Amino acid sequence: MKILVTGAAGYIGSHTLVELANAGYEFVVYDNLSNSSKESINRVSKIIGKDILFEQGDIRDTKRVQEVFEKYDIDWVIHFAGLKAVGESVEKPLEYYDNNVIGTIRLLEVMKEYNCKKIVFSSSATVYDEKSPYNYTPLRETDPTGDTTNPYGTSKYMIERILNDLYISDNEFKIVILRYFNPVGAYESGTIGEDPSGVPNNLMPYISQTAVGKREFLSVFGDDYDTKDGTGVRDYIHVVDLADAHVKAIDYINSDKFNANISIFNIGTGFGYSVLKMIKAYERASNKQVPYKIVPRRSGDIAVCYADSSLAKEVLGWEATRDLEAMCRDSWKWQSNNPDGYKEKKCNNAKK
Ligand code: NAD
Ligand code: UD1
Repeated sequence: MKILVTGAAGYIGSHTLVELANAGYEFVVYDNLSNSSKESINRVSKIIGKDILFEQGDIRDTKRVQEVFEKYDIDWVIHFAGLKAVGESVEKPLEYYDNNVIGTIRLLEVMKEYNCKKIVFSSSATVYDEKSPYNYTPLRETDPTGDTTNPYGTSKYMIERILNDLYISDNEFKIVILRYFNPVGAYESGTIGEDPSGVPNNLMPYISQTAVGKREFLSVFGDDYDTKDGTGVRDYIHVVDLADAHVKAIDYINSDKFNANISIFNIGTGFGYSVLKMIKAYERASNKQVPYKIVPRRSGDIAVCYADSSLAKEVLGWEATRDLEAMCRDSWKWQSNNPDGYKEKKCNNAKK
């Protein structure tokens, strides 16, 4: 029995493959490589010390997905595949709904056809209503969702609703939805990591590229928020901790403990760090300067957002174990060894 991991050539998926292999799970990767490189799979293969079953294809291509289900005995799906850039989603809403929402529907149809009814889905803290984080309290899974501000967030919210309705129609489905907070960092070897195309939108890859000298300075979006130092606060989570949450989710689906057939968990650390705190931590970890300039707020940003992940601890037995220092250290190792991401074939200091 194998796990089909869609989108596993990407940032979070590639790290999850390592944790799945460590836990003894077998998997097949399915990815159209629209935002990733096959090199990430080669590197994961080196880390885990074995070949990886890789099938290139799009989740919207029903025939291709059926071929994969015919070829392998697939029991679970971990579904990472999707487009994720907030700004781009505002410019290209139809592309985002087609890829993320229609793509997920096509995938679920084939799963149903092959009687594969266990799925772990990548959702996001972005599904929460903005009003909740404005309360400056950690977000709980029961907080209001759906008042999303961009097509990317709406696509995640819509998929959550679709999964819920699917379960209502067919309660043999076992569904775990993980709402990620802000994934950062890299596998400790520095051989796999986040490889954004073009100019990074998110804070950590921008800091990394500034530290390595690819960008002149970081723009800090606003220092007039109602926070300790005036800059935005987020719940950054080490990608390896996040990857581990998927293993715990699969273990849970597989166990006698699984009683609610659709479960939603926040995956964060429960701690919030400001932009200035992140810069300082990164400078310490990398021993490099991260020049920055304060600029006006980014439209759509909120002041504070962090998770209450106590449900994941109680039910999945999962909690984050890696601290801010580890997040910055591992991110720097990846960035300094691979200044051009996977484009650079040679990976210095590459080791297991
Ligand atoms: P990523 O872009 O690195 O990985 C996504 C992968 O999906 C890529 O390899 C891409 O080629 C593949 N893909 C995209 N559309 C596809 C399609 N139609 N068919 C097949 N493959 C397709 O992104 P990531 O950061 O690893 O994110 C993984 C998932 O987690 C996404 O669904 C994302 O929305 C979600 N998420 C990410 C974050 C984050 O900050 N990185 C936060 C919350 C949720
Ligand atoms: C972004 C996405 C959100 C997604 C989340 C995790 C937007 C508007 N939202 O949110 O949908 O779920 O990532 O992937 O893109 N910052 C700077 N300078 C920068 C970049 C960021 O000061 O160059 C600040 C931001 O204002 C924010 C913090 O750093 O306070 C984190 O930003 P970012 O990494 O983009 O994450 P989110 O804003 O949480």
